Amino acid sequence: MAILDHHKKIETHATLLLVLSFLVVTIGGIVQIAPLFYLENTIEKVEGVRPYAPLELAGRDIYIREGCYVCHSQMIRPMRDEVERYGHYSLAAESMYDHPFQWGSKRTGPDLARIGGRYSDDWHVLHFLEPKSVVPESVMPPYAFLFDRAASPRHVDDLMAANRAVGVPYSDEMIAAARADFLAQSDPAADPSGLLERYPGVQVRNFDGRPGVSEADALIAYMQVLGTMVDFSTFTPDVSR
Ligand code: HEC
Repeated sequence: MAILDHHKKIETHATLLLVLSFLVVTIGGIVQIAPLFYLENTIEKVEGVRPYAPLELAGRDIYIREGCYVCHSQMIRPMRDEVERYGHYSLAAESMYDHPFQWGSKRTGPDLARIGGRYSDDWHVLHFLEPKSVVPESVMPPYAFLFDRAASPRHVDDLMAANRAVGVPYSDEMIAAARADFLAQSDPAADPSGLLERYPGVQVRNFDGRPGVSEADALIAYMQVLGTMVDFSTFTPDVSR
């Protein structure tokens, strides 16, 4: 057949094959990549997703400092076994304010993307003090020292400014109120109205059950917000794009 004869020419001519292959890959590459430059955002906006409150953000920093990601992922894949175990699969928007993101692929322990609200604060307290006290077969190390370390709001405004530099929409007002908001979130005696206005749905209570703000307060506040921002009883994916 004529068309196969033409193809034979290409297949028996190394340079021609190289040039034409290169051309095909280039066109394919441009078609895939070029539209991304014209989209302002490739992440679908989802109602409810907000930047972390200062105490939650500090807790996230402790999570990273302690290397929790070495054993835990934070991304529920859309496979049936994952969804049945952990809940709704993770949306891109749910980690849009995570710098760096904590998706991961190493699961010595369970995925934590929807750990928020799954257990009480008291459970987390016992678990961080000694994981084996609540899960006898656990190989997770204890983190009891977090309860003795005061969490300081001293750098939280800088942390928020750094996050703003990479795209998290913290306003000047949020950064100015950062230290007060940090303390107010774990202090049931404080007036939380400003905090609630800036971070809708934020959970305010003494997370570790001890006086003062400890690193455990910050970490548990972070645990309890994970995966709770989107209301999946009303969420419908935008399939028009
Ligand atoms: C050496 C690996 C390892 C490290 C490091 C680790 N974990 Fe775990 N984690 C586990 C394992 C295994 C489990 C399951 C058994 C259990 O519940 O203790 C677990 C369970 C958990 C759970 C309960 C999850 C569920 O769905 O029941 C939470 C919450 C948790 N870890 C948080 C953390 C945090 C926060 C850190 C860092 C401060 C951390 N882990 C560090 C291994 C680890």
